[in-house]
Amino acid sequence: MHRYAKLGYVALNVSDLERSKTFYRDLWGLDLTETAPSGEHFLRCSDDHHNLILYKGTPGLKRIGWQMASESDLDQLAERIQKAGQKVVEVDAKERAFLHQGRSLRFSCPFTGTTHEYYVDQRQLGGTPYKWTVAKIQRLGHIVLKTPRYEEALKFYMDVLNFKASDAVDTFITFMRCWPNPYHHSFGLAKSSTDQGQLHHFNFMVTEDDDIGKGMWRFKKNDVPIVRGPGRHPPSGSMFLYMLDPDNITVEYSFGMETFPEENARRPRILPPIDESIDYWGSPMDPRMGAYGPIEVDKALAAGRKAA
Ligand SMILES: [Fe+2]
Repeated sequence: MHRYAKLGYVALNVSDLERSKTFYRDLWGLDLTETAPSGEHFLRCSDDHHNLILYKGTPGLKRIGWQMASESDLDQLAERIQKAGQKVVEVDAKERAFLHQGRSLRFSCPFTGTTHEYYVDQRQLGGTPYKWTVAKIQRLGHIVLKTPRYEEALKFYMDVLNFKASDAVDTFITFMRCWPNPYHHSFGLAKSSTDQGQLHHFNFMVTEDDDIGKGMWRFKKNDVPIVRGPGRHPPSGSMFLYMLDPDNITVEYSFGMETFPEENARRPRILPPIDESIDYWGSPMDPRMGAYGPIEVDKALAAGRKAA
């Protein structure tokens, strides 16, 4: 079965490019790699050219980029998606040049509306390593989406896309690994009570608990809403802090996460639907947490997908 390398990048639509750039660079701790002539900002927390792209648009999720382990894994995945009845398109040369990526493929998820992109090569900036500033960010960690078609979506993400369930909370959220990436979850799916898919939050993993504590005070001093935490998630063991970005999109810092072996991993657990399954420490949740995050549907891509 096809192998992933990692969750590569998240592309957001934002209402004010400069304001969001300042937030993600100066308060969050990412490095601005490039600003395109058309205004898009590329930011990173690794040697990759980008782990976050900011586009101008109705605020929300534009796209999720996944790095595959090899060209053959990319081909195998595309074949599986097509066999499942979904259209896969190649990103054209002009856009690949804009993204500094090699061959890249996309499909539109019928359960969330999300454009998923898959690639192997992205320009590497190892000659000018990413340097920690306000936070010691280790990596882009995970992204969680909501869908009204939770059970069908779970089956698709596991059977077709080859994600592996690590844990679930009752029947409303499942945390998955993009196999064989070892981290407890790079992706999560939650049940939505509305009729549309939506971004719940995305996450960056930090290096030490001080990043959580320092972040809490830095965000408070800069009037950035903290919508939950600090707390600790029982499923993954991660310490967490959730904030709202300038467009009210929920973004998380987390410290520590269970890792899984490639083979013979433990069985996923199903935790009870109680608050303690989300936070050992009992932090209150602001109702704005995970509440905002429309998903941009690529209409041309979605036109070719299998009827829902
Ligand atoms: Fe999270």
